[in-house]
Amino acid sequence: MGTSPSPEGPLPFLATHEAEVRHWLEGMDLTPRVWAHSAEEMVEVPPGSVDLIVTSPPYPMVERWDALFARVLGLPSFPRDPGDFDRAHGYLDRVWEDCRRVLRPGGILAVNIGDATRTVGGRFLCYPNHARVTEALRRGGLEPLVPLLWKKPTNKPNAFLGSGFLPPHAYVTLDCEHILLFRKPGRPLPPDPPFRRYVSQYSKAERDLWFSQVWEVRGAPQTRETAPFPEEIPRRLVRMFSCLGDTVLDPFAGSGTTLRVAREWGRRALGYELDLSLASQMDLPSGPPTVQEILDRIRAEYRCAPGLPPTPGAISAPRSRPPPR
Ligand SMILES: C[S@@+](CC[C@H](N)C(=O)[O-])C[C@H]1O[C@@H](n2cnc3c(N)ncnc32)[C@H](O)[C@@H]1O
Repeated sequence: MGTSPSPEGPLPFLATHEAEVRHWLEGMDLTPRVWAHSAEEMVEVPPGSVDLIVTSPPYPMVERWDALFARVLGLPSFPRDPGDFDRAHGYLDRVWEDCRRVLRPGGILAVNIGDATRTVGGRFLCYPNHARVTEALRRGGLEPLVPLLWKKPTNKPNAFLGSGFLPPHAYVTLDCEHILLFRKPGRPLPPDPPFRRYVSQYSKAERDLWFSQVWEVRGAPQTRETAPFPEEIPRRLVRMFSCLGDTVLDPFAGSGTTLRVAREWGRRALGYELDLSLASQMDLPSGPPTVQEILDRIRAEYRCAPGLPPTPGAISAPRSRPPPR
């Protein structure tokens, strides 16, 4: 079948198998779906039906999410004391539990979360959201994998909390977020038809960049309603951990970044968003991508002349390998 993986990505495979891929894609329903209710109970999604979850929850103890946590926990204000850290995570835990239910054996959950620094009850400290989520998911039966660190380049390289140059009372700058990775135990079924893997392959340059532990990616402009991540984050994760035609879920969909990227790359995108106005205004086409759009997207990513700018948002991601001299 000529399916040996190519260091250049999927184009060599596509060049010889396009008719099969087209025929198969024509029979697929890749219509994205969004539900405007809490992901604590994703009743619309059958158990074991999701291949990949890419998400970013509201971050406990980060000020912009205080009102949401006060509302969903039924509190007059948030945070009132350091114990509210665990109360907020108790709310997120219910969503993680349902994520485990809907994931298929071998399916991957990727959670982007940042820690928080905050003075509560007169004490300034770090609230380690990444550690709390890791432990909850591990105890809940998912297998932790090596996480990624997302470092956002800053225009303020010397941002520093402390007193001049005098030890010992200074603080390390919080300038990384985590992308936690987990796998649901169990034996996965191989992709059917098998060519779904070959048409989804990435290049050697992408592999070298994406599978190194520190990602330098510029943040997205923040909006009042939500805190979107840049498309580059879900784009890499969708390409790394899912195949064409797979089902990708975002239980905290926000402005729909994961869903948009998943749809563009020929995955079935499913999302939940608690905020009704966000859910109804999501920047996401309601129909499925056409077969031509999907194939054009793959070609555009790999067939580009040397000297073109890199993928938007990425600091050092080559969009494609330069052609051999
Ligand atoms: C950090 S934002 C997600 C941003 C998203 N990654 C994007 O790029 O726009 C978290 C979102 O989760 C939503 N949310 C909070 N609790 C939820 C729940 N139980 N179910 C579904 N959505 C929830 C919030 O309304 C918010 O829009």
